[in-house]
Amino acid sequence: MDAKRVGILTSGGDCPGLNAVIRAVVKSSSLKGWDVFGIPYGTDGFIEIARGKYQPDELLLTKHGYALPGMLKGLDVLQFLSGSVLGSLSKGHPEEPAIAETILKGYEVMNLDALIVVGGDGSLDIIYGLAEKGNWNIVAVPKTIDNDVPFTEWAVGFTTAVEIVTQALYDLTFTAASHERIIVVQVMGRDAGHLALHAGIAGGADIILIPEITPALTPELINGCCHQLMKLRSSGRHFALIVISEGVKDSHHQSQKYIGDCLAEAILQQTEHLCQNHDPDFCDITALDIRATTLGHLQRSGTPLSLDRLLATAYGVKAVELVEKGEFDHVVVWREGQVQSAPLKPIIKIIKKCHADGVCAFPVDPEGFMVQTARSLGIYLG
Ligand code: F6P
Repeated sequence: MDAKRVGILTSGGDCPGLNAVIRAVVKSSSLKGWDVFGIPYGTDGFIEIARGKYQPDELLLTKHGYALPGMLKGLDVLQFLSGSVLGSLSKGHPEEPAIAETILKGYEVMNLDALIVVGGDGSLDIIYGLAEKGNWNIVAVPKTIDNDVPFTEWAVGFTTAVEIVTQALYDLTFTAASHERIIVVQVMGRDAGHLALHAGIAGGADIILIPEITPALTPELINGCCHQLMKLRSSGRHFALIVISEGVKDSHHQSQKYIGDCLAEAILQQTEHLCQNHDPDFCDITALDIRATTLGHLQRSGTPLSLDRLLATAYGVKAVELVEKGEFDHVVVWREGQVQSAPLKPIIKIIKKCHADGVCAFPVDPEGFMVQTARSLGIYLG
């Protein structure tokens, strides 16, 4: 088998498990006698390579690895670390012709046989376009805490993010209970509700709002939330947890940076209204404090869970296998309990269409098992 020169880059928002993919690619390639080059900061790295900031040999990962010095020398730590040792940029405009040209030039300088791209739907779309122009041999690895890459059941980073949100809900339960508060927790996910739904169920939320089921904070939805809170209160529960995905829009169908705060305010106003005009039971809820918390980028950090490390490792190894077989323009995916691969073209087509229509490429199925599970528990989803 000929020695190969393989590039790897991480692109878009970081997430736990990126380093585990890098480690797996480097380790399994090394065993084959190949060289792996780490492209810094996604496609931005190719721009810097074209401008001479980096020489290809400096980017060789297989030589120096990430061994620690001193008595810990040789310790294989990369899979435990969050973030990306290569850096991962989600800005810049690689689709602009002049920038694209420089990126293509940088790719040429590297003289690669293949490039492994670890990215979410946005990055894969952009890099696929570059790869078509430059005739690159690419293999993609899906990663995102949003879990919204089509054709794969799991993207790297998702399970760790679910754990982080679940733990936050657990922690918030006790302060909510101690203060008789309703706590609204705003969760990431862009326009997908997977993270909010999974963590909401695992973390014991009483209400979960996701864009696939409740696209906006309509008066009916707010009313429904108030009724759910009143029901809880009448059952003797003096606190509540509400999870809202950041993709839910406000009452005017506009995106809001702090949609959790909008929800808290709307519930407060509606319970006051119901208390004054209709039903004294709602007056009990107005006695409860309502607060909103936004978890933000904490959801993208933290040590990757074993499941994410395993997924990342299996994906990295599979990506190298695809390079070996020359199966380019494929993405590694998890389906039916195992790692498989799927052609990128139809996936990119779906992603492009969804982006053009402003909808999620792999949304939560509103009739799916997870949604039914939540409903069967009495969680209000609108
Ligand atoms: O796509 C991952 C994600 O974390 C989304 O959940 C979130 O909306 C977005 O990235 C945040 O991006 P940024 O880090 O650029 O603010």
